[in-house]
Amino acid sequence: MSVTADIKRITIHDIRQRKGKTPLVVLTAYTAPMARFLDPVVDMILVGDSLGMVIYGLETTLGVTLEMMIAHGAAVVRASCRACVIIDMPFGSSQESPEAAFRAAARVMATTGCAGVKLEGGREMAETIAFLVRRGIPVLGHVGLLPQSVHALGGFRAQGRDEATAAAILADANAVAEAGAFAVVVEGVMEPIGRRITENLAIPTIGIGASPACDGQVLVTDDMLGLFNTFQPRFVKRFANLGVAVQEAVTAYAEAVRTRAFPGPEHCFGVKVGGKREGEPSP
Ligand code: KIV
Repeated sequence: MSVTADIKRITIHDIRQRKGKTPLVVLTAYTAPMARFLDPVVDMILVGDSLGMVIYGLETTLGVTLEMMIAHGAAVVRASCRACVIIDMPFGSSQESPEAAFRAAARVMATTGCAGVKLEGGREMAETIAFLVRRGIPVLGHVGLLPQSVHALGGFRAQGRDEATAAAILADANAVAEAGAFAVVVEGVMEPIGRRITENLAIPTIGIGASPACDGQVLVTDDMLGLFNTFQPRFVKRFANLGVAVQEAVTAYAEAVRTRAFPGPEHCFGVKVGGKREGEPSP
C-alpha cells in the first residue's frame, strides 16, 4: 500500500466551506517537483496559464495551449496527494461556445485527474460556467484583471479605478457566483472592490492584488520565491530570493569545473577514497 493512501485530498466541498473562515492558501505549480514542495502546505494548487510566461518565456498567456495545460496539470496531479488541484483553461478554449468549453474542460478533467478548472471572465462567461457546472465540472471563476484580455484592457493594469468599471467588476463577480462557480479569483482590483465582492458573495474569494479581506490569497510561486524576475507587480511579496541563490550555485559550479575541483575522487567510481575503493566492503 502506498504511504500516501491515508491522506485525504482537499475537495471542492471543503474549499466552499472555507467562506469567511481561515484564509485559503493557494499557490501555482507547473511541475512535479514544485507540486511536491507545495502539497503538504497549501489548500489549493493552481496550474495557472501563467506557465506560458514563467516556464515558456512568452510575453503574455495568449500562446498557451490546451496540450500544455494538460501536460503540466497531469504532472502536478501525479506529484500531489493532499491539495485540491485546479487547472486553468487557456485562451481560446472556452470563449467560442459552452459546448466547446465543455469538450475542452472534460478533456482536462479526464486526462489529468484534477478537481476542477479555472475560467477567466465575468458576465460574458456566466452561461458557459453554468453549462459546465450543470454537467459536473467544478469551475473556479476569475474576475478583475484578466491576463487573457491584456490587449483589450490596455496592459497589466489594476482595474476598477472609476465607478463604472468598479460596478462592472462587482456585476462580473455576482454573475460568476450565480452561474455556480465554487469560488472566484479576484485579480488586480482596487482594494475596496475586493473587499466588497468578498462581503457580497456566498462563495470564497481568492485574492491576488485584491484585498486582505478575501477568503484566500494566491500568488505565482516563482514570483514569491524570486525565481521569475522579468517584472514584479506591486501585489507580489518576495518570501525568498532563490534567483540569487541559483545564480550563485551555477557560478560556483562553473568555477569548480573550470579549475578541475569538481568532480572529486568521492564522485568517481573505482577510485580509492580514504584508502578504500568505492564498492569495497570495510575491513
Ligand atoms: O495563471 C495564473 O497563474 C493565475 C493566477 C495568478 C491567479 O491565473
